[in-house]
Amino acid sequence: MRFLGLLVIGMVVCPAQNTKQLPEGPGRKTTERLCGSCHGFGNFMRKRDTRDGWNNVIEDMIRRGAKGEEEEWAEVSDYLVAQFSPVRVNVNQATAAQIAEGLQVKAAVAAAIVKHREGNGAFKGFEDLGKVAGVDVAALEARRMFIDY
Ligand code: HEC
Repeated sequence: MRFLGLLVIGMVVCPAQNTKQLPEGPGRKTTERLCGSCHGFGNFMRKRDTRDGWNNVIEDMIRRGAKGEEEEWAEVSDYLVAQFSPVRVNVNQATAAQIAEGLQVKAAVAAAIVKHREGNGAFKGFEDLGKVAGVDVAALEARRMFIDY
């Protein structure tokens, strides 16, 4: 039991730090070097965002102390956009898991979206999504162009 407890604590404290590899592509080496010194890549391999969104993350990381040259950041930005852009999500057809991943919402919110369409019929547009309890319309606005109905 004690061993198990330590194992669990270990997993919480260092969540698979360097076991995750970034996908192959132009700019990967630079991204590994500039983004890998403080944390693993797991936290952003799950993230999907637009160019603006990724550039905000980069600025945030620079404020937190990330170091690099102007042209290196441009390379990192291109890499992140090429690898981790939002996928299109059809909110009338996708499963709750696909909605959670595609729209980057919590599982409970994705489940509420599915439940809402089952109870009220298909979503006709973005405004309809705002009627679902728990949906943060302001946060979803950034993904609006990737949502199909
Ligand atoms: C100087 C250290 C440092 C470097 C270098 C760094 N980060 Fe971070 N990053 C942090 C800290 C501190 C946090 C907040 C705590 C956490 O989630 O680990 C964070 C959190 C994050 C998050 C989760 C929060 C969010 O905004 O979604 C993402 C994604 C992220 N970093 C991506 C990157 C990327 C991409 C790079 C390279 C451009 C990078 N980090 C480089 C320190 C750093």
